[in-house]
Amino acid sequence: MRPPNSAYGVRIAGVGSAVPEKVLSNADLEKMVDTSDEWILKRTGISERRIVDPQTEGTYTLSCDALRRALQYAGIRGDELDLIIVATVTAEMTCPSTACRVSQALGAAPAAAFDLVAACSGFVYSINIADPLVRSGIYRTIGVVGCDAMTTVVDFGERTVSVLFGDAAGAVVLQRDDDPERGCFYQKSQADGRMWGSLYMPRRSQDIPDHDRDNPVKLGCLRMNGREIYKFAITKFREVIQDALNATGLSTDDISQFVCHQSNVRIIESSIEKLGLPAEKVYINIDRYGNSSAGSVGLCLDQLWRAGKINRGDNVMFVAFGGGLTWSTSIWRV
Ligand code: ACO
Repeated sequence: MRPPNSAYGVRIAGVGSAVPEKVLSNADLEKMVDTSDEWILKRTGISERRIVDPQTEGTYTLSCDALRRALQYAGIRGDELDLIIVATVTAEMTCPSTACRVSQALGAAPAAAFDLVAACSGFVYSINIADPLVRSGIYRTIGVVGCDAMTTVVDFGERTVSVLFGDAAGAVVLQRDDDPERGCFYQKSQADGRMWGSLYMPRRSQDIPDHDRDNPVKLGCLRMNGREIYKFAITKFREVIQDALNATGLSTDDISQFVCHQSNVRIIESSIEKLGLPAEKVYINIDRYGNSSAGSVGLCLDQLWRAGKINRGDNVMFVAFGGGLTWSTSIWRV
C-alpha cells in the first residue's frame, strides 16, 4: 500500500517502447520446428512476434531505445535522471548491469543504476520499488525499463518454448509530483521459490533440478514446464486482481485499464470471464508480440498511453507473474 503521509506524489511523465523490426510469424516457425499456425494460435493467441538480430540488437539496445523515447515524451534529459532500473533476465552481461550501460548511452551519470531480475514480473516489481523512492523525496526522477530479448535464450529446436516468446522493451519516466494522490496507491510484489524448477535458465549442468536430469536441457536456454506454469498463472492472475480490488475497495468500474503481462491469451481471457472484467479494459497485444517477459507490461502501457486510452486521473492496474515464481500488482492514479 502507499506509504503513510506521503510528502509527494508520482507522475508518469513519459512512456516509451521498442521492438525489433524483424517479424517472426507462425508460418516462419512452421519451417523451423514441428508446429502449426493453427496450434500456436489456438493454444496461445500468438500470430507473430518480433525477433532481434543478435549481431546488432539485444536487451541493451532495446532498453536504450525505449527509455530514450520515454525521456523524449517527457521532455526530460538523461542527466536529469536520479536512478535507472532495468528489469530483465536477458542481460548480455551481468557486470556491468544493463542499467549502467543505458545510463552511459543516455548521459545519465551519476544516476544510480541497477538491473532487477524478476522475470515476467520485472517491470511491475520495478515500478513498485520506484514509486516510494520518489514519493519519499529520496529521488526526483527515475527511469524504469522492462526488457527481454527472449529469442536470444530460446532453443529454436524445442517447439513448446520457442513458439511463445518475442523481444520487446517498455519504459516509463517517473517524476515527483506535488499532488500526493498521484502515483501508486496499492502494490504487492511476492514470490515463491518452491516452484523455480518450472521455469529456469541454467548456465551449469549441476544446477539442473533433479526432475530434469534425464531430459535434454540446453545450457543457456529457457526450460519450462508449460502445464505447471499455465496452472499457476491462470489461478494467480485472478487471485491478485481480486486481492487488489478487495484491499482498495475498488470495483472493476473504478479501473480504467488492466495492463497485464501477455503470457497466453487463454490466461487473460479466463480472467476476463471469471472476474467479469470489461474486455475493452484489458489490453491484449500478444497476437502481434508474443510473450516478451519483462518487456510486455511496459509495451502495453506505451501503446495504450499513445492511443489516448489512459488519461489524467485514471486508475490503472498493472498485473504480472513469471519465473521465480514471482508475481506483482500495482494500482496507479495517473
Ligand atoms: N506445436 C504443436 N504441438 C505442440 C507444441 C507446438 N508448439 N507444443 C506442444 N505441443 C503438443 C504437445 O507435445 C502435446 O502433444 P501430446 O498431446 O501428443 O502429448 C500437445 O501439444 C498438448 O501439449 P500441452 O503442453 O498440454 O499444451 P497446452 O494446452 O498446455 O499448451 C502451452 C502449451 C501453450 C505452453 C501452455 O501450457 C502455456 O501457455 N503455458 C504457460 C507458459 C507460459 O506462459 N510461459 C511463459 C513464461 S512465464 C510467464 O510468462 C508467466
